[in-house]
Amino acid sequence: MNQHTDAVKLQLTEEGQLRHFLTTEGLSRELLTEILNTANSFADMSAQAVKKVPLLRGKTVVNLFFENSTRTRSTFELAAKRLSADVLNLDISTSATSKGESLKDTLRNLEAMASDMFVVRHPDSGAPHFIAQHVTPNVAIINAGDGQHAHPTQAMLDMLTIRRHKGDFSELKVAIVGDILHSRVARSQIYALNTLGAAEVRVIGPKTLLPHHIESLGAKVYYDLAAGLQDVDVVIMLRLQTERMVSAFLPSQGEFYKLYGLTRERLAGAKPDAIVMHPGPINRGVEIESEVADGAQSLILKQVGYGIATRMAVMSMAMSGQATQAAAG
Ligand code: CP
Repeated sequence: MNQHTDAVKLQLTEEGQLRHFLTTEGLSRELLTEILNTANSFADMSAQAVKKVPLLRGKTVVNLFFENSTRTRSTFELAAKRLSADVLNLDISTSATSKGESLKDTLRNLEAMASDMFVVRHPDSGAPHFIAQHVTPNVAIINAGDGQHAHPTQAMLDMLTIRRHKGDFSELKVAIVGDILHSRVARSQIYALNTLGAAEVRVIGPKTLLPHHIESLGAKVYYDLAAGLQDVDVVIMLRLQTERMVSAFLPSQGEFYKLYGLTRERLAGAKPDAIVMHPGPINRGVEIESEVADGAQSLILKQVGYGIATRMAVMSMAMSGQATQAAAG
């Protein structure tokens, strides 16, 4: 079994329900659409006075973040609480991991507390996959971002944002701009956009920040921002992931902004009703001008709200998949 097939199999029950969520790669259009439909109903619910449902009552969710996070960690916590789960946020900097305890031993101890779900962010690509392979059956693993590999819930909240604001994917040209090379978000978005039938997916950036063979994932490459933005419906900006850069990929951040920063003038080259998105954290004056980040076309803060709804959807679906798997014995 190759790594790709293994990841797909690991995520699903025998009936094809979600039981772990590790990557968008290889998942069917039906399953991604089910996530979006479920998330959409939770997003509508967030406008109501009572935002809580009992779907995860009696369940325990552990947030295991081995890397910093603002949006993902807090929206996972809120999502779990809105599903009525008990939530444990393990502070890795004060946990026994800092005393040399191995990941496997940490997991064994958390399993002994009768946990039902681990939400994992890790700097190493493949860590959530490894955990899903070694965890006790009935514990669901949700990938909250691993190395440069995948950030599937971010990609799905981005898909929800696009669907709610632009409609049918088959009509849409989407441009992803910036540091694609180090971006787990870009990879997860490209898989999801193609599976959901986007008309065109473009990646725009300097040669040094575009992975080799990115075309094979179903993305059209542009090195020139103006050419790449022409007639697009959705512009997704990415930050420079300097913490992952092991050598000099750019002359300077100023030079990058001159060539690839999204300004009002440059955005005018996209469709007049194009939306602007960014997974965050944003770096104003590096990849995006403040006027654009805070402007009428920007949905950057809406994305954060949709993150709660999307994470509620994924968590409730994975818990239901685990229950089906357990019942099947
Ligand atoms: N988009 C995203 O993953 O942000 P955080 O690093 O703040 O979670």
